[in-house]
Amino acid sequence: MIKSTLLQAIQAGATELKKYFNGTFTIASKATLNDLVTEADHASEKAIFSVIQNNHPDHFILSEETGAMPTASSTKWIIDPIDGTINFANGIPICCVSIGVEQEGKMILGAVYNPFMNEMFIAERGKGATLNDQKIQVSNKSDLLSSCLVTGFPYQYLDTENGPLQIFEKLIRKAIPVRRLGSAALDLCWTAAGRFDGFYEHKLQAWDSAAGFLIVEEAGGKVTDLKGNPYSPYQPGIIATNGKIHTSLQDVINGGSL
Ligand code: IPD
Ligand code: CA
Ligand code: CA
Repeated sequence: MIKSTLLQAIQAGATELKKYFNGTFTIASKATLNDLVTEADHASEKAIFSVIQNNHPDHFILSEETGAMPTASSTKWIIDPIDGTINFANGIPICCVSIGVEQEGKMILGAVYNPFMNEMFIAERGKGATLNDQKIQVSNKSDLLSSCLVTGFPYQYLDTENGPLQIFEKLIRKAIPVRRLGSAALDLCWTAAGRFDGFYEHKLQAWDSAAGFLIVEEAGGKVTDLKGNPYSPYQPGIIATNGKIHTSLQDVINGGSL
């Protein structure tokens, strides 16, 4: 029942993305100039809420644009109505809807859908991860120097030791390819599918990673915070890899040299 609601909800959100994409829609800035929210984010969120609330009116919802709608239920839906909003607003088809379902504090289900590539990633705890119903697995690479990585940068420059630019510089100086797609949820799913060997980012919110981190884990990968501790989507840092390059990447992120 929860899984069918999830699939219905994610399709409902994606229908709104397709409706607005490359069309005219309002765009507003949030906390910083380039932290955007569009009319499509709100429409997607509304369509998703309607499906969830029709099927499970008592469930807890946490969604980027509306915030937390707490209830007494131990089932919580964690929603990013558009992940990759800047891409969306510029007509770049690298964006998606992301929904994770947490029960008793554990992520049990996650789906990420990019309607422009027609790629649906789903994971169920203990049952593996799929892309369009085909099982996916993380890559096999064990050498960081020959890995293909992906990262993202926060909307506000993070001027800290071992910050995003320092890590990026270290990797780029060794000519390691580090991509920047602009959607953390897709970064995670593409790592799960073996397109990337690893992903890291310094400052995410729960809705960016709730579904994607489970998808990586269920595809056989490893996900931790920046220090290597077990991952929680309620803290900012993330390292998600195929497992084999995890320690090497973690060392570099914590000040180690390459
Ligand atoms: C953003 C994207 C981006 C990441 C940012 C997120 P949004 O989410 O996932 O890749 O670098 O940290 O905020 O704003 O497009 O939903
Ligand atoms: Ca996001
Ligand atoms: Ca978003």
